[in-house]
Amino acid sequence: MNKNEFIKRRKTLCEKLDDQSFALLAAGQSKHKSLDQMYKYFPERSFYYLTGLKRENFILILAKNKKVNLDFIFIEEPSDFATKWLGRRMTKEEVSEVSGIDEQRIFYLHEFDDFIGKKLLLDSRHLILEHVPENIYLDMYRAGNMQKPISFLTFKKIINNYPELRIKNINEMIFDMRRVKSEEEVKEIRTAVEHTKHGIHSIFDYAKPGINEREFEATFEYNIKLSGSTGNSFDTIVAGGKNATVLHYVENDQKIQDNTMVLLDLGAFHNEYAADISRTFPINGRFTEKQANLYNLVLDVNKKTIKKIKPGIYVRELNEFAKDALADGMMKLGYIKEKSEILKYYYHNVSHYMGLDVHDVGTYTKKLEPGVVLTVEPGIYIEEEKIGIRIEDDILVTKDGYENLSKDIIKDIKDIEGYFNKKE
Ligand code: GLY
Ligand code: MN
Ligand code: MN
Repeated sequence: MNKNEFIKRRKTLCEKLDDQSFALLAAGQSKHKSLDQMYKYFPERSFYYLTGLKRENFILILAKNKKVNLDFIFIEEPSDFATKWLGRRMTKEEVSEVSGIDEQRIFYLHEFDDFIGKKLLLDSRHLILEHVPENIYLDMYRAGNMQKPISFLTFKKIINNYPELRIKNINEMIFDMRRVKSEEEVKEIRTAVEHTKHGIHSIFDYAKPGINEREFEATFEYNIKLSGSTGNSFDTIVAGGKNATVLHYVENDQKIQDNTMVLLDLGAFHNEYAADISRTFPINGRFTEKQANLYNLVLDVNKKTIKKIKPGIYVRELNEFAKDALADGMMKLGYIKEKSEILKYYYHNVSHYMGLDVHDVGTYTKKLEPGVVLTVEPGIYIEEEKIGIRIEDDILVTKDGYENLSKDIIKDIKDIEGYFNKKE
């Protein structure tokens, strides 16, 4: 992504801050796994959104007064030791090239305390704030769960230096921005969906009764990487038969028996942006009449819910519509007598936002607007019949309505059966 995109985002955010403020955002750290093992670092999403940087420990500061908005970043200092053990660290020049932050405002982390203590005040070299800063903005979303932002000691220093400082939460401002995607972001999501398409179609190529769920997981993850993805955007779900009635089934270790259906819920990443797709199909490539009836009900609700998407409606309306339509269909098929009984067979929402996070951020109390990307994923789960069906697409809200970003991933019965016939 071009650095101008990150410059623009920081500027937009700075404009929302109160005067005489500074904001502190941290890249976080990888988490401890066991003994001397760490989990792979997962870039803190909002930090990445504002900088394009994917390095642990970095700290971003946005300073704002009437005259000027300035951004500063603190990075790890390159050293021979770090290079030998962890790989080369980014130089100031490289950090500037990715993020668009002026090289003169890039410092090493050991300079942070001094900076926060003195330089943030009027400073002849870096004219930042005219008076003592009045507000500090921190991202306090689920603060307890998040990767460690800045150390307690550092924070204590800030408080000691500026006892009058008001602490404010910057989280909602950033989440609000992230909710509506730019063209650049949509481009990344399109590519993530394209990788996912390759992965799913490669599963169709490989499918036959008796296969273990984990073979599909491996096929998917191998093929999205061949397609250029960095990996899956969440734990891949491959659920044969009854396993498909567990929404977040991730064991993926059972054989898939003949005449059963398989539910795939998976997605690829591209440049940190996620796709999230579900497809369900009979392992032998031929739908039985019962499977087809249930499948066509879910498919019909998937398509009709997508068609309702346009600027001005609420996600809540999509939820209500899908639930009602599934209830209607299940009454017609004789599974339930009253609409309220649908909760036995359908027990999740139909949509969520998607972007840097698979379940992306942003309020659901606002109407949809162009640039919002969301999933549509109705499902029916019948434990006693060992069948679970979910069909999930990724949809971009446009000026006039919507665009289905995953329309090329096959889902109609005739296309699925046709694909399998061609293999034979
Ligand atoms: N993969 C989880 C979901 O579809 O929301
Ligand atoms: Mn999904
Ligand atoms: Mn989803």
